[in-house]
Amino acid sequence: MVFEQELDLLIRSNYPIIYIPTPEEERAEQLIARVAEKGSPSRRLHTWDYISGFEDGAGRINPLQAIDEIIKFQSDLPAVFVMRDFHRFLEDVQVSRKIRNLSRHLQNTRKTMIILAPTLSIPADLAEDITVLDLVPPTPDEIDAELDAVLENVPVQLSPGSREALVKACQGLTMNRIRLGLARAIALYARLDERAIPLMLAEKKQQIRRTEVLEFWPVTETVDDIGGLDILKMWLNQRSAAFTTEAREYGLPHPKGVLLVGIQGTGKSLSAKAIASLWQLPLLRLDIGRLMGGLVGQSEAKTREMIHIAEAMAPCVLFVDELDKGFAGLGSGFVGDSGTTARVLGTILTWMEEKTSAVFIAATANAVETLPPEVLRKGRFDEIFFIDLPSERERREIFEVHLSKVRENRLREFDLGELAFQSEGFNGAEIEQAIVDAMHTAFDERREFQTEDILIAMSQIVPLSKTSQERIRNLQEWAASGRCRPASTDAAQAGLMGQLFGNAGLPS
Ligand SMILES: Nc1ncnc2c1ncn2[C@@H]1O[C@H](COP(=O)(O)OP(=O)(O)OP(=O)(O)O)[C@@H](O)[C@H]1O
Ligand SMILES: [Mg+2]
Repeated sequence: MVFEQELDLLIRSNYPIIYIPTPEEERAEQLIARVAEKGSPSRRLHTWDYISGFEDGAGRINPLQAIDEIIKFQSDLPAVFVMRDFHRFLEDVQVSRKIRNLSRHLQNTRKTMIILAPTLSIPADLAEDITVLDLVPPTPDEIDAELDAVLENVPVQLSPGSREALVKACQGLTMNRIRLGLARAIALYARLDERAIPLMLAEKKQQIRRTEVLEFWPVTETVDDIGGLDILKMWLNQRSAAFTTEAREYGLPHPKGVLLVGIQGTGKSLSAKAIASLWQLPLLRLDIGRLMGGLVGQSEAKTREMIHIAEAMAPCVLFVDELDKGFAGLGSGFVGDSGTTARVLGTILTWMEEKTSAVFIAATANAVETLPPEVLRKGRFDEIFFIDLPSERERREIFEVHLSKVRENRLREFDLGELAFQSEGFNGAEIEQAIVDAMHTAFDERREFQTEDILIAMSQIVPLSKTSQERIRNLQEWAASGRCRPASTDAAQAGLMGQLFGNAGLPS
């Protein structure tokens, strides 16, 4: 519905050339036809492609002639020209010039040109003349209507509940994939029942994987796997019901997202993933490096596609690990890709700022200095947390988490106090590593491992806090400058944040 309204508005406001990037040509044409018909007066629809020219016209004609036809076309009625795959010709000098002439000409007529293409590519010099309109994946209403059509001739065994779940499972798929998936379910089971739901989910996983930048991420981490970080955990706990209808009725907006910055190996990725299990939402992982790096080509189209899929999956958590990797090089005279990176960044930031959908962005970053300042500006994330090296108390908790994973029943035999005390400067990942090393040593001698083994293993690890002192200090100073919140009480009080400015406000 939204798509139809927007298209209608663009046509009525005389936007000369509209570009609809979508793999769903058939569905797009149906929707365009509906919009054309509903206009008052209704609009005449002409469709062109390179093989047959205009359907109702002179057979095969080349793109330049096609544009001439549009210019020559005279009618009392408004007209819409759908040009399939016309993006292919936009790089041509003559076509490009003609398009710009056409754009001027169309502004004073009631004619509209629509470029319909599976991908988005607009040469920079035509960017001003062409308006992009996205066709979002089928809405629940459209899916429902499709189900009705399919169900007419098929035995059905769907309770209202499982029908709703089936529609939900189809959300985010193209109509074509929905049809194929349903047909497969019917072919397999000779009827449509709830066994179709996992099939559609599998279909969706595949479609998500085909984007090459998004992935369904199985969630195994829970909040109980995180040692320390009490402020962050409390913040997340408070929002655990934030995506419920009850919260909407209360008047709460959807939380937008959280950015976890900090030192390596301190549990940023772990915490971001744990959000999905705490809030019981699916987790989608975005590979921002691939998206921005243009490795997959078509960065801009991929970005839009990624946004549509995430929104169709809502409510969900969008996990953007190592956000800084996507922006490395931006802002330091990086010109290699004629502004693609900057445009992709712009699209993502605008989305983050304006999105009202239930897509919660859980992002992590290490090198905050490489993040463009606009990422950190208010309005993008609800909160930015800084994760410092764990305090003694937090290290004790981290030992507890990891030791109980491997030796739950022997936990009391370990001297957690001593381990926490001796592991000053260790991050969570190094603590985990020390435990594994100790287990290897003891296993090699076919005996149980003890506190002593872990202490020895620790003495052989040179923690990152020693080797990267300066980097860590810089990060701590950045955090202390007040651009973020500490993720734990101890760090707020005792860490550098406290030393630099926090102690003044704390009770002595
Ligand atoms: N606070 C913690 N509690 C429990 N385990 C932790 C904690 N911090 C780190 N770990 C352990 O270390 C592993 C690595 O942590 P994680 O990947 O979350 O670090 P990170 O902060 O994302 O580091 P990087 O900046 O290198 O990406 C985790 O899988 C976990 O086993
Ligand atoms: Mg990480």
